[in-house]
Formats: sequence, structure tokens, C-alpha cells
Amino acid sequence: MPAVGGIGPGTGKEYPGNLTPFVMVTCIVAAMGGLIFGYDIGISGGVTTMTPFLKKFFRSVWEKKEADKSNNQYCQYDSQTLTMFTSSLYLAALLSSIVASTVTRKLGRKLSMLFGGLLFFAGALINGFAKAVWMLIVGRILLGFGIGFANQSVPLYLSEMAPYRFRGALNIGFQLSITVGILIANVLNYFFAKIKGGWGWRLSLGGAMVPALIITVGSLVLPDTPNSMIERGQTEEAKAKLKRIRGVDNVDEEFRDLAAASETSKLIEHPWRNLLQRKYRPHLTMAILIPFFQQLTGINVIMFYAPVLFSTIGFKDDSALMSAVITGVVNVGATVVSIYGVDKWGRRFLFLEGGVQMLICQAVVAACIGAKFGINGNPGELPKWYAIVVVLFICIYVAGFAWSWGPLGWLVPSEIFPLEIRSAAQSINVSVNMLFTFTVAQVFLTMLCHLKFGLFLFFAFFVLIMSIFVYYFLPETKSIPIEEMGQVWKSHWYWSRFVEDLDYPNGGMEMGKGGHGVKDV
Ligand code: BGC
Repeated sequence: MPAVGGIGPGTGKEYPGNLTPFVMVTCIVAAMGGLIFGYDIGISGGVTTMTPFLKKFFRSVWEKKEADKSNNQYCQYDSQTLTMFTSSLYLAALLSSIVASTVTRKLGRKLSMLFGGLLFFAGALINGFAKAVWMLIVGRILLGFGIGFANQSVPLYLSEMAPYRFRGALNIGFQLSITVGILIANVLNYFFAKIKGGWGWRLSLGGAMVPALIITVGSLVLPDTPNSMIERGQTEEAKAKLKRIRGVDNVDEEFRDLAAASETSKLIEHPWRNLLQRKYRPHLTMAILIPFFQQLTGINVIMFYAPVLFSTIGFKDDSALMSAVITGVVNVGATVVSIYGVDKWGRRFLFLEGGVQMLICQAVVAACIGAKFGINGNPGELPKWYAIVVVLFICIYVAGFAWSWGPLGWLVPSEIFPLEIRSAAQSINVSVNMLFTFTVAQVFLTMLCHLKFGLFLFFAFFVLIMSIFVYYFLPETKSIPIEEMGQVWKSHWYWSRFVEDLDYPNGGMEMGKGGHGVKDV
């Protein structure tokens, strides 16, 4: 019986190609597309703890917070309008990633990135100058549109550009930018919150224009991927580009396989409907479950609400923001570890190790908070060592996420879909991710208020389920060329029943040498 998650027999293909300076620079620039997403994640939580911001836009929350000072700490921030502010963006991102699917497929990955940058810029501008709640919400919807486009196109771009042996590391550049964006936003919040006159929040929100400009300019100078060029009929240019990217002349085999994948892709008129075919069942399952599980790790409870959470467990406003900076640094550092390890140790190892680590930390944090806050949420005086222990375990949890589900939640979907469904399936990935980011953001404060410390156990339960899922159902994808990925399903103990030999004549998705009318170009 094929192994649970091992690599199958493979096609034995080893395309020549180096980690050229050209591909490195290209991928670094493209990965910066993650900055806009990260900046936003990091900025919104901090801004919503800034008193002048709350007083101006969400007065009732501020009043309640003031009045509640010594009462139930679990419920002080529970407000639907406030969470709507944070989470409106994710609904917009969900919708736009669906539109982005067509743009990415028909017009190329670059153009989607450009739209992403421009929309995000417009949103940041409106937010920086906001005078009323509706301006905040409109701004956030535009930011969301931007993120939908960027998250749909950037991971695909990176996975297509990278030589397959370095695909993991280069793709995780996207997640690294997300974490750097979060950290920069946390640090800025920390300083802007101190500005006398209380308008620092305008700088925090308006500052999003900077990462928006980076991706906008980046998308103008980046080349399109050969896969996408072939898909759009620019065959000769694509071959020249592939030689340049790989730094070798001998790209014939890889090029033939790309062209074959593209021919298959052209036969498909309705990529969405196509996704429902039986042979794409593994892909569809992953496109839905990977982002779902990523969000059900509970990471965004920490990312959005770290300052709120830390002030809930008794930190003063300033040290609450500071603790968010600490978790931000851990997040970046641990992402670098995954860049180092992903193409060496593989995706499954990171997923499983990270899962165990998160599970332990969630149990400890639940126990700590439960012990002190009990169920009435009134802790009395908290000793300093206690706060340190909670922050420490939250940091170890963040590290676990940052070298597993964080980067892999974007990497794995971007590398497992065959070209003909790649763009549509990636949209599903982004949409599901945004839907559950929205859900967690929207219900977290209410859940904290009702489930109390049990909230951490709720997420721990899902971490357990997702780790079991990975163990049994997620095949290893390291070191397999992207257009050859079909083999991993074919040699999988469970998924092999959905994909038949006919679907992947050479073990991969290509049909060139399998004889479906594809000419060597
Ligand atoms: C997730 C975000 C999360 C971030 C934290 C990303 O991979 O999609 O929801 O906030 O990681 O670093």
C-alpha cells in the first residue's frame, strides 16, 4: 500500500536550472505583495485599542471599557461594530479573489498584483483621512479588494517562478513579508499611539499607502511567469523568459511540460465547474480544508487582538502594545526557520511539529488564564511572573504557527493545483481563508466573553483534528516539479482512488508524451 504521506515513485524529472540572481530578485520583489496583508493585520488590532480612535468612532465601546474597569475583563471589548470594522475587509477580500481568478488566468499574474496595489492604496488614503465610521468601512472594503487580488496572484506567481527545488523557500517569502508587515505595523502603532493630540491612528491607517506603493511599482517591473505567458499564447517569449529565469539554455524538457500543461488547460472552458470533477477531488478538498484549518489554529486571535488580549489579562495599554511587538518578532524569526527547512525537512514534518507545539501551548495558556480569571473574569492583582508565563507560551505558540500552518497555508495550495484549475482553485483557497479570518475576527470577542479561557481549548481541539488530517491525507510535495504534481495523488493511499492513470499519463499533469495532441514547441 502506498505510504501515508511519502513521496511516490516520481517521474524522475530533474529540470536543469539554478537559483539565479534574476529569479531571486524577482521573487523577493513579488513576495513583497504580502506586506499589504501583513500591515493591515498588524495595524487594526492596535488601532482599536487607541483611546482617541475609540472615542471618535466607537464611543460606546470606549464608555463601556471605562465603566467596566474592575468588572468582567473577558467582555470589555465585546462590540459588533468594532469587530465589523476589523472584519469587513475580509468579506471584501473574499469577493475580489473570485474576480481576481479570471484576471490572473486571462491577463496574467502581474496585472492582478497591480490591481491589488492600486485598490489597497485607495483604501489606505480614505482611512487615513477618515472623518466618520462609514469612511473607515469604505476604506477597509477597498483594502480588502486589494488583498484579495494580491493573495490570489502572488503565491501562484512565486511557485511558478521558482526552480522546483527551492520552491518552498521562495514561496515562503510571501509569508515572510506578511510577518514583516505585521511587525512593522505593531511597532508603528506603539509609537503613533504616543503622539500628543491623539491623531496617531491616522498615521497608522494612512501608512498602509507605503506597502501599497511597493507592490504597485513592483508589479510594473516584474516579468510574467512563463507558465502564464504560455497559457496566454506567448510561446516564444515564454521560452526565452524561462532560459533567463533558470540561467541555462537547456530548458527544453521543462518548457515542453509547461506547454503540455497549458494545452490541457486550454481544453477547459469552465475552470470552476471543472473543479467538481472527481479527479480534482483531492485538490478541491485541500483548497477548502487547508485555509479553513489555518484559520482555526486561532492565530488571528493573537494577531488582531494581541493588544486587546494582553490588556484583558491585566497589562496596561502601553505594555499590551509592547507585547504585540514581541509576538511580532517571534513571528518573523520563526518564518525564517521555515524558509530554511521547508525544502529540506519537507512540508509534513513542519505541519506536524508545529501542530504539536501549538496544541501544548494552547492548553497551557487556557490553564493559566482559567486559573487566575476563573469564570467571572475578575483576576484581582496579577503577579508579574504570571504575565510573563502567558506571554512566553503565546510566543511559543506563535512560533509553532509561523513555521507550519502560516507559510504552508499559502505554499501548499499554490503548488498542488494543475494549471487548468490553478487560478480558480487558488481563489477558493483565498476565499475560504478570508471567510474564516472574518468569522474568527467577528466572533472572537463574543467568544472570549462567553467561552472565557475555554476559547483556547476550542482552537486546541481544531489543531488536533488538523494534525491528524495532515498525517493521513496530505502527501509530501517537496522537490516535485509543479506541473508534475499529479504523481503525489496517484501514489497516495487514499487519494489514488480518485485519480486514474488516464488522468496523469506520465505521473504528472502533462499530456505531451501521453499523446493528447500536444506538439513539441
Ligand atoms: C495568515 C494570516 C495570519 C498570518 C500571521 C498568514 O499566513 O493567513 O491570517 O494573520 O499568517 O502571520
